[in-house]
Formats: sequence, structure tokens, C-alpha cells
Amino acid sequence: MRRVLLTGANRGIGLEFARQLLDGGDRVIATCRHPGQAGALNALVAAHPNRLHVLPLDVASERSRNELVKELQLVTDGLDVLINNAGVLPSGEHFGSVDGKTLADTFATNTIGPFALAQAVAPMLSKGHSPRIANLSSVLGSITRNEAFRTPSYAISKSALNMATMLLARALAEHGVHVVALHPGWVRTEMGGKDAQVEPADAVRGLLAVIASLDARHSGQFIDYLGQPVPW
Ligand SMILES: NC(=O)c1ccc[n+]([C@@H]2O[C@H](COP(=O)([O-])OP(=O)(O)OC[C@H]3O[C@@H](n4cnc5c(N)ncnc54)[C@H](OP(=O)(O)O)[C@@H]3O)[C@@H](O)[C@H]2O)c1
Repeated sequence: MRRVLLTGANRGIGLEFARQLLDGGDRVIATCRHPGQAGALNALVAAHPNRLHVLPLDVASERSRNELVKELQLVTDGLDVLINNAGVLPSGEHFGSVDGKTLADTFATNTIGPFALAQAVAPMLSKGHSPRIANLSSVLGSITRNEAFRTPSYAISKSALNMATMLLARALAEHGVHVVALHPGWVRTEMGGKDAQVEPADAVRGLLAVIASLDARHSGQFIDYLGQPVPW
């Protein structure tokens, strides 16, 4: 039974991760900003008693991350998987009026949060079985694939998350922790919108297969939900 720490688990891809991990028999520490309001996630507790712990975490807040790490020690003595799923995509940005605060807030959630959380739980992962970190990135953070000036705060923050992924892979190689950036496809969630092509269930099934298949050769790579490499 893997012990999985998951962020942004109350809706979208994160909620689907929680569902499929529990169905697969894993133990899930599912975090979200407001556990009291996470109806769909809390409903899973009844179906999977003892294997789902719901804890509060705002990934953008250092204080919240520190509190989570303290609480984690009470729930488990090691971790096998960290899924940095929480993310934000500000809409309506146009060149000439991109707001520095929007950029900074997006960076705090999409880049600093995943990097700092990985750093904070690295000692617990080092004690884990076949440990790995999956950072939910996006093809919109790919410099090679970029075609237009779109969603700058999101694109910049995911591109930086890709570098964070590479650096974490380097730092944690000696501890046997594999670290990857993953693109889930264009997924039908609040972020992806109703025109998106991929159902959350299909995206997560693919991502979990990729996470399960990782070995040292994959660490520091950018991979999509079908297992294909994505250019940086
Ligand atoms: N959907 C796509 O097409 C797509 C494509 C490429 C990559 N991705 C990536 O996949 C991940 C999940 O996306 P999604 O489609 O499921 O998005 P979503 O439906 O908008 O859900 C985003 C999740 O992140 C949480 N979150 C946002 N800011 C947070 C913070 N500061 N602390 C903790 N949780 C926070 C949200 O919680 P609240 O409910 O509290 O806001 C929510 O649970 C993201 O990293 C996204 O960038 C998605």
C-alpha cells in the first residue's frame, strides 16, 4: 500500500486522483484549502475508512505548509508518492497590462508551493518505498511548444515549475526519489473548461500509469498522460 500525499484534492484532476488512488488500494493524505467545504472529497472518507486522511493545505502559504508537515508526522512516518496537483490559471491577461501581483500569486501557487512542499517532505520520501514526486505541469509551460502570447502568469509559472522539477530530480537522485513534470492533456475541469478533450478519469488513469512506471532514467523528464515526452 503506497502512502500518497496529494494537493488540491477537492475538485478537478485532484479529486479524481484521490478516487483512483483509493480504488487502487493506496493510502491517501489528501489536502485542500478548505476541508470543511470539500463535500465530494469528504464523501470518500466513508467509503474508504482508515485509508483517506483529509488535511488542510494552502500550497501558497509557508505557514500552512509548515503546519501540514507537523500534522503529517502524526499520520505517517514515511511517504512513497507526492503529487503536486494544486494549480491556478488566471484568465483575461493581455500584454501591456499583465499585473505583477497576479504573476507573483500564480508563481506562489504553481511554482514555490510544489518546490517548497517537495523540499519539506523530502526526508519522509527518502524513508519511503520506491519514492517519487509528480509535479502537474502543462504544455503551456513548454518554451519549445509556445505559439502565442497567452496566459502569461500560468505559462511562466509552469515553465519555472519544470526547472524546479529538474533541480529536485538532481537533489534527490542520491536518495532514490524520482521526480517528473507531467502534462495531463487538456482536461475537462473548471480550469480546462467544457471544450477540453480529455475526461479527468482518462487523464488520471494515464498519469497514474506513468507515475507507477517511473525509474531513474525518467527522473527530471517532462512526460504527458500518454507516457510521451514533452519538449521543454
Ligand atoms: N485542466 C487542464 O486542462 C490542465 C492542463 C494542464 C495542466 N493542468 C494542471 O493540472 C492541475 C489540476 O488542474 P485542474 O484542471 O484540476 O484545475 P481546477 O479544476 O481549477 O482545480 C484546481 C485545484 O487546485 C486547488 N488550488 C488552487 N490554488 C491552491 C492553493 N493555493 N493551495 C491549495 N490548493 C489550491 C484548487 O482548490 P480550490 O477549490 O480551493 O480553489 C483545486 O482543488 C493544475 O496544476 C493544472 O495547472 C490542468
